[in-house]
Amino acid sequence: MRGYVQIFTYGCQMNDLDSQKMYSLLARKGWTPTEQTDKADLIILNTCSVRQKAYEKALSNIGRLRRYKRMNPSLIIAVTGCIAQQKGSDFIDRMPHVDIVLGTHQLHRITEAVDARLSERNRLIDIRLGDCIPSMGVIPDSGFVVPSHRAYINIMQGCNNYCSYCIVPYVRGREISRDHEEIIEEVRTHAERGAVEIFLLGQNVNSYSGGASFPDLLRKIDAVEGIKRIRFTTSHPKDVSSDLIGCFQSLEKLCSHIHLPFQSGSDEVLSLMNRQYTRKTYLDLIRRLKAARSDIAFSADVIVGFPGETERSFRDTISLIEEVRFDVLYSFRYSPRPGTKAAEMDDDVPLEEKKSRLKELQAIQRRITLENNRARIGKAEEVLVDGTSARHVDQVHGRTRQNAIVNFSAPSSLIGSLVNVRVTRANPNSLTGEII
Ligand code: SAH
Ligand code: SF4
Ligand code: F3S
Repeated sequence: MRGYVQIFTYGCQMNDLDSQKMYSLLARKGWTPTEQTDKADLIILNTCSVRQKAYEKALSNIGRLRRYKRMNPSLIIAVTGCIAQQKGSDFIDRMPHVDIVLGTHQLHRITEAVDARLSERNRLIDIRLGDCIPSMGVIPDSGFVVPSHRAYINIMQGCNNYCSYCIVPYVRGREISRDHEEIIEEVRTHAERGAVEIFLLGQNVNSYSGGASFPDLLRKIDAVEGIKRIRFTTSHPKDVSSDLIGCFQSLEKLCSHIHLPFQSGSDEVLSLMNRQYTRKTYLDLIRRLKAARSDIAFSADVIVGFPGETERSFRDTISLIEEVRFDVLYSFRYSPRPGTKAAEMDDDVPLEEKKSRLKELQAIQRRITLENNRARIGKAEEVLVDGTSARHVDQVHGRTRQNAIVNFSAPSSLIGSLVNVRVTRANPNSLTGEII
């Protein structure tokens, strides 16, 4: 054994997958994962800088690791992900206890970086952007850190959209897609290992262009034996094509759920955000998706307090929420990010106003989520069992095709199986059921 490694992950599902990849690469070299920080010989912070809060949290945790380094001078500390990309050497200069800085396209170099640090005591900084194909191609080991029945696959990385508030294009680079044949190979590998669900990841999956269109890729995955469910995230409304909508009609394995961030319900704000769609075209999309798949569930992201958001534009956001009735809505208070277009605009919504708008929005969404959940009582749902409940040993939890979480009594031997469950109770963020 080489030693113990602990990875702290912040941010999106892409970062979660990147952490699994690093755990796998390190395990293949003899490192053992641990959750005890004082036992770790290697600590990796896989960071996110999408909002000020996420940025500050990661930075303060990096600072806190100084104490562990004092207790154990041979401890190696690595910073990866979007803050590493954003700050690079500038940040390592100010934090001498950090040994390694790897950017978002370089995570596959983690074992090499650790070995270099161990043998030559060199601090390695690599934040080159441009070729993320090697890191996207790392296949994490199955059943290791994450369950093997659901396989996450990175199909593209980066973003060309430059929404005015967003730092992602700067820290993840331009859109780069993996070759479709390589992706299908990876799907087959996961299917052979027993995966039943494929979850495709990318900052903007529906602008995928790896030798096949995104709908073509979905059709190819649909044809792989053993795979029962397909999901993907995230989609940009402007790239939801008629062909993709048609997939919800023709592909049975495609789950009845789409995450479709709308950010604002006001056309003026959408235009300032450079979102390239209007309230009307967004609502049209929702209608067409429902027509293609009547039981489709929606989730989304929304920002409150963007520069120029008036009380009236906020009301437009609320009315869009009431109209679509999302199952899940991730809502954020706007925070300016360095280098973005919006950071040059007048951040004119007072903090207290941002907070009260967010509070109001979240209360409305809580009611809608509960109402949507109540409407499911009595229904039979196909559930993919994910794991045992933390609180009740005889209970398991899983996800419906609409992505709702269901808790029910069943043996842990069912983890990884698809079972039919009748919904008996609605909770604020989940359902309770019984096996049929
Ligand atoms: N298309 C992306 C979105 C990533 S960022 C994806 O692949 O998921 C996730 C969400 O964070 C965005 O949808 C947006 O709602 C929010 N966000 C991004 N920048 C923000 C900022 N400066 N202030 C507040 N929220 C922000
Ligand atoms: Fe950011 Fe917009 Fe790209 Fe999403 S689509 S990552 S919000 S710039
Ligand atoms: Fe955060 Fe980077 Fe994801 S900024 S949201 S970890 S792409």
